Amino acid sequence: MLKIGNTVIDSHLMLAPLAGVSDLPFRLISRKYGCKFAFTEMISTRAMYYKNKNTLKMLESSRDDKPLGVQILGDEPAILKDSLKILKGFQFDVLDFNAACPVGKVSSRNKGAGLLKNPDKLIEQLSVVIENTDVPVTLKIRSGWDEGSVNAVHIATQAERAGAKAVFLHGRTKVQGYAGKVDYTIIKEVKKAVRIPVIASGDNVSPQMIKKMFDETGCDAVTIARGALGNPWIFGATEKYLGKGLLPPPPTAAEITDTMKEHLSLLKDFYGEKKSVAVFRKFFAWYSRNFKKAKILREKASKAANTEDMLNAVEELKTKEYLP
Ligand SMILES: Cc1cc2nc3c(=O)[nH]c(=O)nc-3n(C[C@H](O)[C@H](O)[C@H](O)COP(=O)(O)O)c2cc1C
Repeated sequence: MLKIGNTVIDSHLMLAPLAGVSDLPFRLISRKYGCKFAFTEMISTRAMYYKNKNTLKMLESSRDDKPLGVQILGDEPAILKDSLKILKGFQFDVLDFNAACPVGKVSSRNKGAGLLKNPDKLIEQLSVVIENTDVPVTLKIRSGWDEGSVNAVHIATQAERAGAKAVFLHGRTKVQGYAGKVDYTIIKEVKKAVRIPVIASGDNVSPQMIKKMFDETGCDAVTIARGALGNPWIFGATEKYLGKGLLPPPPTAAEITDTMKEHLSLLKDFYGEKKSVAVFRKFFAWYSRNFKKAKILREKASKAANTEDMLNAVEELKTKEYLP
């Protein structure tokens, strides 16, 4: 059991915030296979402030989508305060402040990982969030901006002092992006420096790698990001591996294609047919990554004009020539 402020989570595995991925249908599929806590996609407070339709859609949830965290990207205090008023109309269990996004147009504007270069500004924005919400507030950071400016311990201790209820730490610098070695030592150091939960991220892509993360860092919990793409089974498999040291058999081709169909159907309900087919293309590629010669079917999926075309491509995965 994990406690973030007054939010109790019945697992130490969480679905990470994933821009362009962790929408309601993806979260529901992840929960079906054992995910007990999920995050929305990263929400731009500026886009919320301007009532951007696509951004407001990202806030939608359902009864089965609990407990749920929302992740916001900072901005100037007036925009932050206003967007927090909008969030009051929703029921989130955790509110995470992003100081980790490495995308250039974000980090170059004192947002996301850009704030790692300016810890005072980061804590100032974080404090505005903490003062203007009743939801437990957490902070997501990276180890630092670059190898020469690793400052996660300093930022995490300041955040705890400001009232943050947990720290999410991706053990890479902004300059590393998503590649290169994860720094397990910095995660361990942050864990020693604060009393609030430290939730670790970075290469949590298999039950074995997740066990390594717990063993090497002593972290309180982990977020699963790339490991969950096309693989919602990772949640159940990791629980089993951590509990009993056993790995369940991988899903069969039929289980994978049934899940793909269910995912596509949830997307259709959420976005309507046209957008659901477009959104599902990347999921098709992820789900089919272990099938043989799947490139041929991925091309078919990328040209699918409607649900029927997409379902045909999914169904074909089960024919002999493609089976893993
Ligand atoms: C497609 C994609 C989208 C992501 N979007 C976000 C995001 O919106 N907010 C965030 O804090 N991290 C985001 N991340 C980073 C992940 O949460 C995670 O910290 C990172 O991928 C490292 O974990 P991994 O090596 O296990 O994938 C994203 C990662 C990917 C691959």
